[in-house]
Amino acid sequence: MTDLKTQLFRNDDADGLRSAAEILKNGGLVAIPTETVYGLAANALDGKAVAEIFKAKGRPMDNPLIVHIAEFDEIYPLVSSVPEKAKALAEAYWPGPLTIILPKSDIIPDEVSAGLDTVAIRMPSHPTAHKIIELSECPLAAPSANSSGLPSPTTAKHVLDDMDGKIDAIVDGGESAVGIESTVVTLATDVPRLLRPGGITHEQLEAVLGHVEIDPAVLAQLEEGVKPASPGMKYKHYSPKAEVFIVKGTLPSFKFYIDSVKQDGDMALCFDGEETDISIPCLPFGNEENSLEQAHLLFAELRKFDELGAKRVFVRSPSQDGVGLGVYNRLLRAAAFKVINPPVIYGLTGQTGAGKTTVSEELKEKGYFVIDCDLTARKVVEKGSPVLDELKTVFGENILNEKGELIRSTLAEKAFANEENRQKLNSITHPAITKAVINQIRNSFSQKYKGVIIDAAAIFDSELIRYCSRMIVVVAPEAERLDRIIKRDGIDVQAAMLRIKAQPDEKYYKERADILIRNYKPYTISDELSEL
Ligand code: TXA
Ligand code: MG
Repeated sequence: MTDLKTQLFRNDDADGLRSAAEILKNGGLVAIPTETVYGLAANALDGKAVAEIFKAKGRPMDNPLIVHIAEFDEIYPLVSSVPEKAKALAEAYWPGPLTIILPKSDIIPDEVSAGLDTVAIRMPSHPTAHKIIELSECPLAAPSANSSGLPSPTTAKHVLDDMDGKIDAIVDGGESAVGIESTVVTLATDVPRLLRPGGITHEQLEAVLGHVEIDPAVLAQLEEGVKPASPGMKYKHYSPKAEVFIVKGTLPSFKFYIDSVKQDGDMALCFDGEETDISIPCLPFGNEENSLEQAHLLFAELRKFDELGAKRVFVRSPSQDGVGLGVYNRLLRAAAFKVINPPVIYGLTGQTGAGKTTVSEELKEKGYFVIDCDLTARKVVEKGSPVLDELKTVFGENILNEKGELIRSTLAEKAFANEENRQKLNSITHPAITKAVINQIRNSFSQKYKGVIIDAAAIFDSELIRYCSRMIVVVAPEAERLDRIIKRDGIDVQAAMLRIKAQPDEKYYKERADILIRNYKPYTISDELSEL
């Protein structure tokens, strides 16, 4: 079957459509456009023709096919009976991206039903699909027109990439509008059951049918040996050659995860507008809020990763609401159920004397992993560290005492003498601090923390801000802070005031706070932290 000359027809070519129908009548295979994905069609009543579909796709024979019809009445010969629920669903959503499973009639060949006593029926809305079914005068069995395991095709080009030389013809009908395969619901069970989510949502099904169960295989991997209600659900699917991982959580958590694991050949599937913010090459697949757009683009983007030679693909986890459930279901299979939960990272900062340290103690007690950036900054310049060596080269031997330890005041004097020196200092120490913080967070991965807190006075100016999902900011009135600093550090009013004035004002901090901790009466830290 690899020496066929695959013909390409356009959907506005009437003769071409007639030729396609003729091929189907004669037991051949034609890929046709539908509103969901492209289908690889054969006469559904011709078992031999249908068997060729399995060969061309390399599809396991135990995975049944959907039978496509053009008019509702064409359902009657295919099923043993048509319940009222089927009529109501068809009335509401046919033609469209919905497949209904019913007990089959005797004319359905075993190749179509794969030995089950049911058959899946769909009436597509794509005018070209409709036309071809009509012209070929038979119901068409059609799985998605991809090689088994690869993402379903949403353009004629995708079909050609997979099927050239293996099938008789392809009809080009433009991009599939929905982009993921139809919703599959079975009415062959006592309670209707959603087997595959797609363009018609669970809510839309329930609006017509009342309660509709969601099959466990929609969102979870079946255990070894469990027989799925829909055989197609057990296979790894929709997958580019690269290894795919879904990464849950916010964009900052995603960035942290990528920065801490990235290697050559890594790429990301992200939402629109995030490309510039993620440190590996990205393909966007629509707006984060728009599941319809994500469904439309998903498979086309997954295919692009192969062209780009991606080895691993990390995916921003989409919403599971509405059509999003279908998008997430396809991604789970593309990822062979590998889902990563990176930690939620919070930044903790505040004005000097506001009580940041007290807040961080309280957060530790609540089960958070707290990273003290002051301490980390001190550690990276410990005696013998590469950072200290570099500082010595740039700022001179006399920043070290006779034991080879850093004299912080001498370094500060030199570094803050002018802007150029200050930048030199930062360019040596900041990357090292960032790296040390990332390492600490990575080491916390395996442990069951509620989240990670990066405690840093100057966090808004630091690289680390990009990993913080939310900012916790501690504030207190100036008089109170002054009092606390004087007591804490044993310095006089002037010195304490200098420190206060060296920082931005309270407005600056408040504007950047997601969680504001008012550490003064009548407030209490524990109340202020209650949402964490
Ligand atoms: O949107 C679509 O449904 C596309 C276009 C071409 O119509 N077709 C499609 O077919 O996605 P396919 O073969 O790739 O997926 C059909 C799914 C499989 O998961 C299969 O196991 C399930 O439907 N299925 C078919 N007949 C079934 C049956 N009698 N009982 C349970 N599941 C069935
Ligand atoms: Mg398929």
